[in-house]
Amino acid sequence: MAALSSSSVVAVIGSGAMGAGIAQTAASAGHPVVLFDTREGAAAKAIADIQKVYARLVEKGRMAAIDAEAAGSRMRVANSLAEAKEAALVVEAIVENLEVKRGLFADLEAIVADDCILATNTSSISVTAIGARLRRPERLVGMHFFNPVPLMALVEVISGLATDEKVADTVYATAIAWGKSPVHAKSTPGFIVNRVARPFYAEALRLLSEQAADAATLDAIMRDAGGFRMGPFELMDLIGHDVNFSVTQSVHQAYFGDPRFTPSVLQQEMVNAGFFGRKSGRGFYQYGEGHSVPAARSEQAQHKPSTVSVSSEPGVTHAVINQVEARLKAIGFNVEHRKPLPGAGQHEAPAFHCHGAAIFLTDGRTATARAGANHHADTVLFDLAFDYAKATRICLARADQCSDSAYDAVVGLFQTAGFTVSRIDDVPGMVVMRTVAMLANEAADAVNTGVCSAAAVDVAMQKGVNYPRGPLAWTDAIGVAQVVAVLSNLAASYGEDRYRVSPLLRRKLAAAAANGGRFHA
Ligand code: NAI
Repeated sequence: MAALSSSSVVAVIGSGAMGAGIAQTAASAGHPVVLFDTREGAAAKAIADIQKVYARLVEKGRMAAIDAEAAGSRMRVANSLAEAKEAALVVEAIVENLEVKRGLFADLEAIVADDCILATNTSSISVTAIGARLRRPERLVGMHFFNPVPLMALVEVISGLATDEKVADTVYATAIAWGKSPVHAKSTPGFIVNRVARPFYAEALRLLSEQAADAATLDAIMRDAGGFRMGPFELMDLIGHDVNFSVTQSVHQAYFGDPRFTPSVLQQEMVNAGFFGRKSGRGFYQYGEGHSVPAARSEQAQHKPSTVSVSSEPGVTHAVINQVEARLKAIGFNVEHRKPLPGAGQHEAPAFHCHGAAIFLTDGRTATARAGANHHADTVLFDLAFDYAKATRICLARADQCSDSAYDAVVGLFQTAGFTVSRIDDVPGMVVMRTVAMLANEAADAVNTGVCSAAAVDVAMQKGVNYPRGPLAWTDAIGVAQVVAVLSNLAASYGEDRYRVSPLLRRKLAAAAANGGRFHA
């Protein structure tokens, strides 16, 4: 399906943060743009501000002066909605209210041509509901941009029940012509990103509630080991707890109270206190003069251990163990391969063995539970890292039964391998692994219920919220068996439906022996 011609008029209704960004993007792509806002002077100010942005881009050499001039003059203020008459596409970015949006689109239908596409930038309202009372609901589609629009590549193209596939395809192609990375999605609560991202915040809030570690340490683990650009607490502080909590609440309600989306009592209290984050000067961290983000907790330096051995039959954790082993070897460790390792055979084989400590990658059970199951007190778990070759930090948890000397040797081992070590309390699933498994579960469920394709969910999470890797590509990397094991063990630990495994993950696991159970070829 072809994109709209760049000569066709785009009308943008609402000139706030999103509308202005959409107008800028459309004008940059060559469209004549009319911008309408009910607030006196708002559209004119938005256009003037965009022209200043263009001027700055010229100064920085990122835009040619002639292009800036042309794009700047392609935008004009509409003094009434009637000036949307010539538009081939209208994008609405007004207040987030169903009745107000319905009213706007009803008015627009009386103004625009029959083949004009109507798009809503709603982030949380059903596209189906917005279009329900239209004369021609098939031409209404969601065009969900991310803030700041000129910088964020993702556009979720949302089809309501009545949306014509050709309309969605035209908007998709047009988003590509605008330099964006669009994905198709069905109109469902939270669409893709606002739904699949819930566990990123929710699991962190749970870890903090369960006193796994403090916010700064959990953030550092997610950044330095998980490869996420921002930790969940600093990100929630940036988004604002009022906003973040209300998105979680709305997704939870929209899914009829599904426990997967249960909001956090801790975050509710942040909102109750008015601790909204950066904008109120205090969230999980304090901002403003005299305040800085507290340092993450790290273990004190320990001696380099004399020996480390690696299991040669590590099963599902093979890929991960190979990476850690490569890193140990790179810094001159003589990693012995012993077969079988102590503990193998009757009990599960640890990934590594060091000074009597059995070291495992987390599988969703606590270190304490594994120590008990294997009858091996000196048990230490390590967390998932995005890339063990590049991670600067590693997260460990020790069994309640573990001796100090064995634990210190494990700390020394990972420190010698160049990691800063952060210990968390012995909670199930640790930090990165638990978060990634839950993101993968949510992503798999979105695919399973036809919200979007596996490719779309991975693009959405990378382009919409800057995740280092799509949750399903991450599942492919660590193995579906590992993800299912982590979720199943979390479900067993908590006894909550929240951690139930998506049927699609189970299906991939069942097929894994035949085809690897991968989401991507
Ligand atoms: P905003 O409050 O910055 O701007 C809304 C603008 O719409 C205001 O200038 C207001 O005067 C104008 N307006 C309100 N009712 C109007 C009407 N009936 N006709 C014409 N103009 C009207 O809001 P923002 O953040 O730009 O959000 C707009 C829409 O985009 C909302 O639906 C929001 O949920 C959605 N959205 C917001 C994102 C964000 O990060 N802020 C991200 C993605 C979507």
